[in-house]
Amino acid sequence: RRPKKRTKIIEMMDELQKENVYIKDKERVEKLLCQLIQDGKSKLQIITDFDMTLSRFSINGKRCATCHNVLEDSTLVPESKKQILDELRDTYYPIEINAKMTIEEKIPFMMEWWTKAQSAIVACNFRREDLTRAVRESNAMLREGCDWQFHALHEHSVPMLIFSAGIGDILEEIIKQHSQMYANMRVVSNYMDFNHDGMLVGFKGDLVHTYNKNEGALRNSDYFTTLKERRNIILMGDSMGDLRMADGVPNMQQILKIGFLNDNIEERLEKYKEAYDIVLVSDSTMDVPNAILKKIL
Ligand code: TMP
Ligand code: MG
Repeated sequence: RRPKKRTKIIEMMDELQKENVYIKDKERVEKLLCQLIQDGKSKLQIITDFDMTLSRFSINGKRCATCHNVLEDSTLVPESKKQILDELRDTYYPIEINAKMTIEEKIPFMMEWWTKAQSAIVACNFRREDLTRAVRESNAMLREGCDWQFHALHEHSVPMLIFSAGIGDILEEIIKQHSQMYANMRVVSNYMDFNHDGMLVGFKGDLVHTYNKNEGALRNSDYFTTLKERRNIILMGDSMGDLRMADGVPNMQQILKIGFLNDNIEERLEKYKEAYDIVLVSDSTMDVPNAILKKIL
């Protein structure tokens, strides 16, 4: 006699049967889903990355803009600074996605990338109100299904922490233009500092780069303390650094990690399958997270 099926929920969900969905440990994911559904929305919180997780990686084969790219592609940044930012990306992005280096090895390079990019951006002297147009003229967009997800999480009062190494002002503008910023959303990111004339003069607070998101719980201790009854977490990310966004969150019981693998796929798939509970390869939608949310909400 065959043993009783232990992956019933997974098998019931069409979205999880697609070819681009990888689940290494089905029994673990089954148990997690079962617990998340049983505990319900009052025990749930979402922690998510922004660039290439909430935002789309590509459309018709063309890369979509990250927060930083919105500026680089705009008229706010003169050619000389564009060249600097391009060169920085060509140097450091391959390091960011390198499958052979450890996170610890990557950190000093990310610090360099962000620090140099921020000085180049600050030297452009643009104004706060210019950002709206820069975002409108960019091809930054949200994954299909984000709008539904944001609305549903708000309706059901499920808190969402957007933890981004991008630029806070720009990601909020992208969300506003393509969906809505809701009261249940909290953004932790690199925010621009504008002077009383509305001119950019620097960045506020501690730098967030791709690989220091493990300090999130520390930085956001008040936030997590108020949410301490919400002990189930759905984490979404596209980088190995995003896995650490919930490190140190107090009282956490269950965490379901959903990873979007957008680039350098062959080399990274094995690592992603080890690290993320569910891996979505070249997926431009929120279909899988939304299907799971529909069961919990
Ligand atoms: P995150 O998605 O982990 O929050 O990281 C933000 C992304 O921003 C990361 O993938 C690298 C990218 N980036 C640029 O595209 N240009 C830049 O100048 C910098 C500093 C980062
Ligand atoms: Mg990202």
